[in-house]
Amino acid sequence: MADIHAVEPTRRDFLYVATGSLAAVGAAFAVWPLIDQMNPDASVLALASIEVDISNIPVGQETTFKWRGKPVFVRHRSEEEIAAADSVDISTLPDPQADSDRVITGPEGTLEKQWLVVIGICTHLGCVPLSYRGEYDGYFCPCHGSVYDTSGRIRKGPAPLNLEVPPYAFISDTKIKIG
Ligand code: FES
Repeated sequence: MADIHAVEPTRRDFLYVATGSLAAVGAAFAVWPLIDQMNPDASVLALASIEVDISNIPVGQETTFKWRGKPVFVRHRSEEEIAAADSVDISTLPDPQADSDRVITGPEGTLEKQWLVVIGICTHLGCVPLSYRGEYDGYFCPCHGSVYDTSGRIRKGPAPLNLEVPPYAFISDTKIKIG
């Protein structure tokens, strides 16, 4: 597409891969601005948009990319995770939003529910939540105990809002453009 000026992610864009196991999340307890200072890559911070390859993110895993200096979680959700997100009565949520309103349509025009894309910054005071943790196996923010579900929606704790869904679009079956 001619109007896309995206840059392939470099090694610096790739922060970590989270899985359902506990082994891969040990370094994630941090406030994002602190991490950001440790990675002062102005060229990356300046990118208005990035293209990311999602073809090598297996079901049940998540990859974090850096976009405009922020972590973006790209999560390949399982059927169980989607079903859990879909089964919620949204009127009971602190920030009511249907799961179907937090995912987008793909190249074929169907809703790509298996892909959750959210900015990985807690909406309370800006910590980076831990993936596949917490009561709903979504995200858990260790700073003050906010719990998010598999749609990134706030379920418990002091955070007032759901994890933000950044602007993004499918370029193909295997690539998305964030921003
Ligand atoms: S910053 Fe996440 S709960 Fe306070």
